[in-house]
Amino acid sequence: MSKPTTKEIQAALLDAAQQARENSYSPYSHFKVGAAVFTRQGHIFTGTNIENASYGLTVCAERNATFAAVGAGEKDIVALALVTQKLPGAKVNSPCGACRQVLAEFMPPNAPIYMAVLDGKKRTVVTKKLKDLIPLAFNLS
Ligand code: THU
Repeated sequence: MSKPTTKEIQAALLDAAQQARENSYSPYSHFKVGAAVFTRQGHIFTGTNIENASYGLTVCAERNATFAAVGAGEKDIVALALVTQKLPGAKVNSPCGACRQVLAEFMPPNAPIYMAVLDGKKRTVVTKKLKDLIPLAFNLS
């Protein structure tokens, strides 16, 4: 098969993130998030938010997807998609600050972040570069 186009990768990532969102364990916030990352090797890894009765132990979807890839030995992530539900007043939801810092560890600054909200059957997507979400990420190099 030929190399997938950016558009094909975006669609596959959004579908995978939407599917992963179905497994969200979020009995406290009732806010389901699904995420999917695309690695340099061409694989998709997914994650969802997993909450805990001790609230601070919750892990976001973006970090679970990232750690699934890295844990499988694929630490170069070239794109990420996340899917959430529509909240009043927000066009899309973006990754939290902690997740942005984790993404900066494994993604290049120009990598696209596809942020989608579900509104009924409609999926609205906003795309930003990682560097625009976290312009001054901490790093030790
Ligand atoms: N959450 C994510 O999974 N990703 C984010 O970027 C922000 C928040 C989750 C954590 C918690 O389970 C719920 O959404 C509400 O904060």
